Amino acid sequence: MDPPDNSCLPEEDIENVPWFPKKISDLDKCANRVLMYGSDLYADHPGFKDNVYRRRRKHFADLAMNYRHGDPIPRIEFTEEELATWAVVYRELNKLYPTHACREYLKNLPLLAKHCECREDNIPQLEDVSRFLRERTGFTIRPVAGYLSPRDFLAGLAFRVFHCTQYVRHSSDPLYTPEPDTCHELLGHVPLLAEPSFAQFSQEIGLASLGASDESIQTLATCYFFTVEFGLCKQEGKLRAYGAGLLSSISELKHALSGNAVIMPFDPKVTCKQECIITTFQDVYFVSDSFEEAKVKMREFAKTIKRPFTVRYNPYTQSVDVLKDTPSINSVVEELRHDLDIVGDALSRLNKHLGV
Ligand SMILES: [Fe+2]
Repeated sequence: MDPPDNSCLPEEDIENVPWFPKKISDLDKCANRVLMYGSDLYADHPGFKDNVYRRRRKHFADLAMNYRHGDPIPRIEFTEEELATWAVVYRELNKLYPTHACREYLKNLPLLAKHCECREDNIPQLEDVSRFLRERTGFTIRPVAGYLSPRDFLAGLAFRVFHCTQYVRHSSDPLYTPEPDTCHELLGHVPLLAEPSFAQFSQEIGLASLGASDESIQTLATCYFFTVEFGLCKQEGKLRAYGAGLLSSISELKHALSGNAVIMPFDPKVTCKQECIITTFQDVYFVSDSFEEAKVKMREFAKTIKRPFTVRYNPYTQSVDVLKDTPSINSVVEELRHDLDIVGDALSRLNKHLGV
């Protein structure tokens, strides 16, 4: 359907939309709005009474707060204690992965060892991980001091930027952390961010969030939580985990696949109403056949989100095009025509080669 020559969405519709980053460097304006900062731990945090740990956390928080788009991510010399904590988490989780993790995870985990020195005796550096992911899927890492608001976190995904914590959980209980830490990011999230279909799925949730209402952000964040953090999939008739919250938690990973957990099919309309539980296991987990299927469902769901315009990511400029008028829509059509030309050319060469 061709739009009329010069139509444009009403300006007042656009003005009422909440601010959102339009280009990747705009993330500098929202990546530091963390809910907890550095050494300010809650009283029930395992490191609350440990002043050495709190000073260390402040150091990591300062590094993240001073980070700007384009900077190399500071390299960390991890302490013996941090390395020992990582080693326990790494060793125990790796025992479960062959029988509990999805095939995409199992395919990519060895690449992390090969390209980023991810080993039991070494914590990979976020800068190396970021470079590795950029080559695989275009995702990059941005260090963050702690929990971001869902709006700011999802906005990063729209630009294929994943906000990662760089500190290590408290050593008193290596198998428990009340918040994301670098073990969770590296062993939970990174292997799947190296998978193109999963990277696309993550970005689409991010793009749907830009300029959305608070209520819509909440529904998207809940869908994110039950997929990217706690999602399950079915492979060769068996349940497997792809959610990073599961893949970085020994006890919950076992529980989710034990046969005792409540499992429901992933359906964004239903999933978005489920309560997210932070301190203990989830009441229910959601299963998809594949990332492809989850993406299609999320795409349909995203269309129901109230927003006066749609957006498209421009990978050349690492910015978001707001499709609000005829010229912006026409330029997308031009690009699509060009892509179709390439497909047509490729097919005709293949046919010639096959003698069709
Ligand atoms: Fe996470």
